[in-house]
Amino acid sequence: MKDKLAIHGGSKVRTQLMPARNAFDNRELEIIKQVFAHYRCRNQDFGSQGHYEHLYTDAFVQYLETNGFADAVNSGTSALFVSLASLQLPPGSHVLVSPVTNPGTINAIILNQLIPVIVDSCPDSYVTNTAQFEERITDLTKAVIIVHIAGKTVSTIDEIIQVSREKGIFVIEDCSQAPGARINGKKVGTFGDLSAFSTMYRKSLASGGCGGLVFTSSEKLYNLVCAYADRGKPFGQPHFHHSDPTVFMFPALNLNQDEISCAIGLSSLTKLDDLIKSRLNFLFDLRESITRHSKVCNPSPISSGDSPFVYPISVDTDQIVCSKREFAQALLAEGIDLNPHYKEIVCEWHWVKPYLLDSFVTNNAIEYRDKTFNLYLNENYGRQEVEDIVEAIVKVESILYSKL
Ligand SMILES: Cc1ncc(COP(=O)(O)O)c(C=O)c1O
Repeated sequence: MKDKLAIHGGSKVRTQLMPARNAFDNRELEIIKQVFAHYRCRNQDFGSQGHYEHLYTDAFVQYLETNGFADAVNSGTSALFVSLASLQLPPGSHVLVSPVTNPGTINAIILNQLIPVIVDSCPDSYVTNTAQFEERITDLTKAVIIVHIAGKTVSTIDEIIQVSREKGIFVIEDCSQAPGARINGKKVGTFGDLSAFSTMYRKSLASGGCGGLVFTSSEKLYNLVCAYADRGKPFGQPHFHHSDPTVFMFPALNLNQDEISCAIGLSSLTKLDDLIKSRLNFLFDLRESITRHSKVCNPSPISSGDSPFVYPISVDTDQIVCSKREFAQALLAEGIDLNPHYKEIVCEWHWVKPYLLDSFVTNNAIEYRDKTFNLYLNENYGRQEVEDIVEAIVKVESILYSKL
């Protein structure tokens, strides 16, 4: 029953599950064993801030192709929280932030007693509109968090950096969804004063169930990041001892990443470039094929500097007799993994509204979301998935919904 949509009881285009990612394989298992072996032969138990964190953070700085310092923490939210905390901004300072992100980004602002000020995206995109960024600066703006969302970079970040330098505003990059991405050849995470990465298991760089990284080229900020991630210890000060709380500087949580996670992250880092390459190859192939065969779907642009995470595809609702959501639900029923309606648009969250500077609505981000669905993907997607996705799109748009 190829002529009946799966959502209406027809057979699915794709009956097998989409490929699993399996982010953790024997390489991670092996390195975990190495952690045990390393500490056992020294007659020690593993903890945090040890050998594997040093290997991991050194490898990460090298991966970013720059000089500086990295700290491994227990989540992306923590990475953002300690990055902001290290700036020691006056409470009530304004922090400009991208329109589309995970709640962790916004919570890091709010829980530092700072006020989020949202900036919209460019038209037809989730990418932060850097031109609008300047309009939203106030006298109290002290920092900006630029989120490289859905694997795409904010390619005009230099504009933000320049304005920020002139006005004494700190820039933090949230690279959680785009590790290894590049802007004009330079890795994201190396443009701002600090950068934060989530390394939870669904991210391209994954250190286990939960995890995060902070990078900065400033030794002073690095020591403060470490302090805010570890009970206010005076890192960088001579003669300080971890077990002497009399010299700690301020109250702070313990947000450390443990040695096992750092070892997993170290292993994951060695796979990152190949992962990005296979995801890009898949998306270039998919984009070309959708563009050739579909009358309704418009896949978002891809550049070789991206580090694909999820992939937005917009639907021309003028050409169909149903909503975008119904269209996406029909594709989902055909066996294609996707998110019909992305909900990570900050200005729409009821719980965040009391904390925002104003009731600014990010219309571009909302309009783009209202006409797109996000395709899920991973590094194991290939030609077969391109064929199945395109077959499902063509079936859905031609059989039932197309007015063409
Ligand atoms: C862009 C972005 N920022 C922040 C976070 C928060 O990271 P975590 O879940 O590791 O706390 C995530 C992911 O969850 C994210 O995608």
